[in-house]
Amino acid sequence: MSKKISVIGAGSVGAAIANDLMIQGIASEIVLIDVNEQKAFGEALDIYQGATFGSPTIVRAGDYADATDSDVVIITSGLPRKAGQSRLDLAQANVDVLKQITPNIVAAAPNAIYILVSNPVDILTYVFTKISGLPENQIIGSGTILDTSRLQACLAQRFSISPKNVHAHVYGEHGDSSFVPWSLVHIANNHIDEYKSHAPHGDEINWDHDYEEVEEFVRTSGSQVIKAKGATFFAVAVSVCHICKCIFNGAGAALTVSTMMHGEYGVDDVCLSMLNMVDNTGVRGKITNSLTPEEIRKLQLSAEKLKSIIAQIQY
Ligand code: LAC
Repeated sequence: MSKKISVIGAGSVGAAIANDLMIQGIASEIVLIDVNEQKAFGEALDIYQGATFGSPTIVRAGDYADATDSDVVIITSGLPRKAGQSRLDLAQANVDVLKQITPNIVAAAPNAIYILVSNPVDILTYVFTKISGLPENQIIGSGTILDTSRLQACLAQRFSISPKNVHAHVYGEHGDSSFVPWSLVHIANNHIDEYKSHAPHGDEINWDHDYEEVEEFVRTSGSQVIKAKGATFFAVAVSVCHICKCIFNGAGAALTVSTMMHGEYGVDDVCLSMLNMVDNTGVRGKITNSLTPEEIRKLQLSAEKLKSIIAQIQY
């Protein structure tokens, strides 16, 4: 069974994604496409030369014609943010890049499932939905899947437990207006505020309703990494590869990814993250958990912020 993935953009994020796809054996063929053909060639060759110890994967550089019959297309092209910049500062510039890419890649791979990664990812997912003409189930923005990973890692550390036992997600914008619906957060089947009293190591657990502190840590993690090393790419790469795995295994995974809203929680005509069922059809649909009135308001505020940016861009 073909598992062909084309990655548009051979920068640090695109290259890290392609390398993870090869190492994890997620794709049978990876095509790297970039306006800088030499860069795409170099990254593809460098990744392919590790395949002996990774997994047998064809990894090559190409152009849009080489993306024909891709099962998944991952779009990472665009300016990365610099220290001190918000993701939304990149909006018009990266929308302009997306407008260049879209007609070419959609012509080559009209049936692929598309994963938007470039920032601001919610805005770009919305614009791609509007200009690609593709069915919405084929369009996924990486959204807050990375934030959710950051949240689960942070809570796992605080509770001295595996991240696999932390059921917690980040909703809304992949950005400053994201939030955690704490009413839904559970640790090993106990609500987060109850777990300590049920745990064998309760006295080691560092938790006292530290909602804001944890949310701020998650919201600022990207900036912290950029400040320290200049860019983020490893965590976002492995997060995007997880989406690809969920698409190919088809079992149906609940992921916080960015998709078009149609009135859920009073939010429509904007892309942001809530739990979506992802399988081999792409987005099967949304999982509308019961949120508290305060959590619904936070989601609506996040939507309003994204809509204010959409109103300012040309697409
Ligand atoms: C980050 C980028 C992917 O949060 O927005 O690391």
